[in-house]
Amino acid sequence: MGTFDDILAHGESLIENEDALNFEFIPKIIPHREKEQRDIASAINPLFAKRTGRNLFIHGSPGVGKTVAAKHVLRELEEKTDEIKTIYVNCWQKNTSFKIAVDICEQIGFRFVQNKNTTELFKVISKILNESSAVFVFDEIDKVDDTDFLYHLLEEIYKKTMILITNYKSWLDELDERVRSRLTPQLIEFKQYNAKETASILKSRSLIAFREGVWSDEAFNLVVKKAGELRDIRSGLFLLKESVYFAEEKAKRKIEVEDVEKAFSKLDDFTIKNSEDLSDETKFIYSIIKEHSGKKIGDLFEIYKEKGGESSYKTFQRKIKKLSENKFISTKKQMGEGGNTTIVEKKLTEF
Ligand SMILES: Nc1ncnc2c1ncn2[C@@H]1O[C@H](COP(=O)(O)OP(=O)(O)OP(=O)(O)O)[C@@H](O)[C@H]1O
Ligand SMILES: [Mg+2]
Repeated sequence: MGTFDDILAHGESLIENEDALNFEFIPKIIPHREKEQRDIASAINPLFAKRTGRNLFIHGSPGVGKTVAAKHVLRELEEKTDEIKTIYVNCWQKNTSFKIAVDICEQIGFRFVQNKNTTELFKVISKILNESSAVFVFDEIDKVDDTDFLYHLLEEIYKKTMILITNYKSWLDELDERVRSRLTPQLIEFKQYNAKETASILKSRSLIAFREGVWSDEAFNLVVKKAGELRDIRSGLFLLKESVYFAEEKAKRKIEVEDVEKAFSKLDDFTIKNSEDLSDETKFIYSIIKEHSGKKIGDLFEIYKEKGGESSYKTFQRKIKKLSENKFISTKKQMGEGGNTTIVEKKLTEF
């Protein structure tokens, strides 16, 4: 038998639709967020009657379905009408008014953005969007460097709904008064799921993702229990995926408790969004970042070494990336004299 024969002996994967396990996947229904989605829809509703919509400020902890619920409503809207344009911007990726303007232009099909400044781009945007109406979702809004784009859109687009999403309710308090008084959003909090809701969400995702009967009940319940403890759907999705890999490695037809237990070991302390639960080394790095927020990654590494840190630069970078993925800190790329560098910042609050 060749190396692969053993592994592939059963031919078929246990997974039917791997996409469904990706964090970005948008299921056809989003259980336990019906009310929140109705709230979003009713803010948009006036646009159907050619009036202006209401604005929303959505806040809540990580992994509680804010992004997926908002995207789902946008998708439904797109299926229902061409009259209302939908725009989704991730402000972590597009963190300046200029970048956001370029992104919006791209989304509404305007390609001649070269040599235009931010104000000119917003002129174009309003000209196009004022022919109909628009719904804007600005996700991770706390990551923006400036809020001029909000001012432009609030002033220049007549019929719209603006939806801002963040983990930090306090972001609104610090918003420029000029913008806030024009925005006057309705606040919507996405509360954390309880254990039962977590279980049912993971169940419905797994029904799309896996072949029937591949999970033993004990194994599945173990995933659900862990995700419930962590209050984090993402960790549940991660465990579902990883457990399968362990089972498939052994060419099993069923995923069992031992596979989930192996997956636990990959779910390292980083996904637990409580700094007390970080490994000592990571806590050490995290404490340096908290003390020196806003510094370049290279400078932080120097401080780390001075304080007795022993990891290589590569490991250090990897740990920073993990801390950032799990939202303990944020990182952004910055152009410098010697090329691109990464700036590392602590977040506003700890989980
Ligand atoms: N009610 C739900 N039904 C189905 N999947 C869900 C539900 N809630 C969350 N998820 C899934 O859990 C993951 C995290 O959800 P989402 O990305 O919407 O979280 P979030 O609230 O935007 O978190 P963050 O603040 O970290 O951005 C996604 O993969 C999403 O598809
Ligand atoms: Mg999100």
